[in-house]
Amino acid sequence: LATSGPEPLPELLRAATAAAQDGAKVISAAVDQPRKITMKGATDLVTETDRLSEEAVLRVINKAYPDHAVLGEEGGVSGNTQSEYLWVVDPIDGTTNFAHSYPSFAVSVGVLHRGTPIVGCVVEFLGGPHAWGTRTFTAHKGGGAFCNGHPIRTSTNPEVTRSLLVTGFGYDHGPAWRSNMELFKELTDVSQGVRRLGAAAVDLCHVALGIVDATWEYQLKPWDVTGGCVILLEAGGRLTTMDGQPYSVFSRSMLASNGPLHPQLLQYMQPKTEALLRQGFDLSEWYVP
Ligand code: IPD
Ligand code: CA
Ligand code: CA
Ligand code: CA
Repeated sequence: LATSGPEPLPELLRAATAAAQDGAKVISAAVDQPRKITMKGATDLVTETDRLSEEAVLRVINKAYPDHAVLGEEGGVSGNTQSEYLWVVDPIDGTTNFAHSYPSFAVSVGVLHRGTPIVGCVVEFLGGPHAWGTRTFTAHKGGGAFCNGHPIRTSTNPEVTRSLLVTGFGYDHGPAWRSNMELFKELTDVSQGVRRLGAAAVDLCHVALGIVDATWEYQLKPWDVTGGCVILLEAGGRLTTMDGQPYSVFSRSMLASNGPLHPQLLQYMQPKTEALLRQGFDLSEWYVP
């Protein structure tokens, strides 16, 4: 199978949206049913619905672009690994929330072209038992960001004292996790609040929507962020690592903000991240397939 030149972005986005919505249908059908849970670690779980959602998402991608490569959280790398296009899929971001029927989980589908995020679709679940609903975030490079088809923009607030923030804590409770616990304290002290909802893709979309001013986290994986990154950037947001370096979806730290707040937040994050580096903590790129 030969790749036929650069793929038009609106078509890629249409396929990404169809794929994410098929994953969301699988989740909607399961959301009021008992969960079938497997443990990946002491507290890290996965449900049968994660796997079924990933299968549904991949069916759409493989049909539309059989000569592209795919990276899914549950299934790993598949397809044509020589392709310039890598689809990055989180079939349920916020699995722990889904397992408990706590809102804030999503399907995330993103596309990388030679490592650059170019297309993103995140379907966020809203509400809760007896009141589930969804909203769909979409963006392709250069085309703006949308929520249910409406254009969205990040907030314009430049002041940490007027900000609402959101962060996350992964399953690896090592030095970076402890360092972020410290940041959580420091920023809770000086901002209007730091939330911790449990789905990085949703957090990125909430910054894009302008309802929170920034989000950050250590050790996110490419499937947590690829879709959401495109949406955030197209909504006018800014992305760097937590020590202010250029960001890639393979970076081990991420600061995503509305833009104006970025310098103030880096003043808190840069020293902590540099201290981690001095302790020998590896903050180089990871999960490069
Ligand atoms: C997790 C969520 C969570 C973040 C973790 C991720 P999963 O993904 O994005 O917000 O804090 O680092 O692993 O396992 O629910 O897809
Ligand atoms: Ca997981
Ligand atoms: Ca995830
Ligand atoms: Ca997941």
